[in-house]
Amino acid sequence: MCGIFGYIGKKDAALILLDGLATLEYRGYDSSGIYVSGAGNVKTIGAVENLRKIIPKNFYGTSGIAHLRWATHGEPTERNAHPHTDCAKSVWVVHNGIVENYKELGELLSLRGHKFQSSTDTEILAHLVEEEMKLTKEFPAAVSAALKKVRGTYGAAFMHGGEPNLIVAARMGAPVVIGCGTEENFVASDASPILRHTRHVVYLHDGDVAIMRQNSHHIQTLEGAAAGRASHTIEWDEAQVQKGGYDHFMLKEIMEAPGVVENAIRGRIVTSGGLAKFGGLEAVKDKLRDVKRIVIVGCGSAYYAGLVGEYMFEECAGISTEVEFGSEFRYRKPVVDDHTLLLAISQSGETADTLEAIREAKRKGALALGIVNTVGSTIARECDAGIYNHAGPEISVASTKAFVSQLTILALVTVFLGRQRNMSLATGREILAELTQIPVKIDKILQQKDKIRKLIARYSSFRDFLYIGRKYNLPIAYEGALKLKEVSYVHAEGYGAGEMKHGPLAMIDENFPTVAIVFQDSVYEKMISNIREIEARKGPVLALATEGDNDVSALVRDVLFIPKTLEILSPILAVVPLQLFAYFNAVEKGHNVDRPRNLAKSVTVE
Ligand code: G6P
Repeated sequence: MCGIFGYIGKKDAALILLDGLATLEYRGYDSSGIYVSGAGNVKTIGAVENLRKIIPKNFYGTSGIAHLRWATHGEPTERNAHPHTDCAKSVWVVHNGIVENYKELGELLSLRGHKFQSSTDTEILAHLVEEEMKLTKEFPAAVSAALKKVRGTYGAAFMHGGEPNLIVAARMGAPVVIGCGTEENFVASDASPILRHTRHVVYLHDGDVAIMRQNSHHIQTLEGAAAGRASHTIEWDEAQVQKGGYDHFMLKEIMEAPGVVENAIRGRIVTSGGLAKFGGLEAVKDKLRDVKRIVIVGCGSAYYAGLVGEYMFEECAGISTEVEFGSEFRYRKPVVDDHTLLLAISQSGETADTLEAIREAKRKGALALGIVNTVGSTIARECDAGIYNHAGPEISVASTKAFVSQLTILALVTVFLGRQRNMSLATGREILAELTQIPVKIDKILQQKDKIRKLIARYSSFRDFLYIGRKYNLPIAYEGALKLKEVSYVHAEGYGAGEMKHGPLAMIDENFPTVAIVFQDSVYEKMISNIREIEARKGPVLALATEGDNDVSALVRDVLFIPKTLEILSPILAVVPLQLFAYFNAVEKGHNVDRPRNLAKSVTVE
């Protein structure tokens, strides 16, 4: 959460920084601010639009740093907006992360006469550097010395009023990317604001400090030793981070689902042998044969994708599997050994809890694999091996296409692991052949977009929803409810249909609708009985049913038909109409769909 962006070159820094911040808005939008050397500092509540309006004329300089805030310490006020500065207003800093020992550092600095303007932990960093500058006149050395005193996480960029041709960036536990252009350099929380200027990037590692000037960047450790970091070329282009004609990124990203599935399976299917293959797993494929147990970790939607993975791995690959929230796994005492595979799922590859779970599992001897969308992200780098989603950048805070991609890859991994064990050639071939049909089937669902939009009129006034499913589609009930909550701010609960009688049924009446996922699969009859129980209590039901299932249409108030597929792959289809349902509900309510209140896309704090 929070986004930082910095520029040093020959052009108008304010223009470049404001444009870049706009692409980072999904990371936070409580407040925003900018410092341009020679011009000064402007900050405001809210996101970039507000900031743009108040930038004075002639706010000109060729280097600067900017920030979008997702508040952790201190209210989202103008005073607490970044950049923060020291007493002399010489040191400027933008920061993503948390200074955990800010209290004790603050007390020490107060004793030395420092006065604080904000109630943020970040401001401490500026004063610490000011203090270190008294000992060393070198700005980069002062930043390193200050950061050595900090406990916590940071992806930060520092400037000094007296040195306009210098930005010092540093990373500890929060992502930092350096963009290397021609006679200009950039620093950001992720590559999205950099892409329109250059595709050549360097990812900082924890403990790295980057000393950036117009024509050079030098990366070293906090101790001052040179750190050789390879440069990467990003494949995403800028158009992929723009809305492409849609009103919102969320809709654009839902509509991208067919292509996302194609990208996830491209080059990974060996039809004749009924095999899945992944370049990223080659080095560990023998170790994977020895895996006796899988623990999947993720947060938010990634966690729900993991729950689908649990059904897939147990039923089709015969491997005992459990799924954990990253935030729980890291604080429990998980039983993990060298026959355990830790499979981390993360779109951003930066989620702090997931990352810590990986570190904990690795410490205990587990093999760690990642299913990650963001190339070069921390999770991608820290896992022993992994698979990239290749879903392209996901900008909307609510995850949609990444979730579809995660399910697709989990199905491929099921075939991969299953074929190493007892899965037959015929089953492997069947799953893979059907996977190749999924993009066309999703397309058919997307063609019902307007039908779903019209349905909203019948459901938008309800304040509570239940989403029910069984087996493979129970996690999709959870995910459908999560989508509605996060973008529509409507209370929704995902529930196992079989559990309705143990409590939730008591809430059902004509004002409490249920979204039921009822496909013609191994739990069809059970689902039908559960729907009858709801109907008998006058609860309105919107069902997702298998194409042509007229029995369901006769039973419920509304139906959306979904093309028939294998049960194991049905969640990939089922989630798409639920994403659209949540989207249109939020649009109807006039919410900021891509940036739901209080949320951020990349949760890099605990
Ligand atoms: C945030 C996002 C969710 C996402 C979750 C996990 O809460 O809003 O959409 O599912 O983080 O993120 P990750 O990047 O690890 O998949």
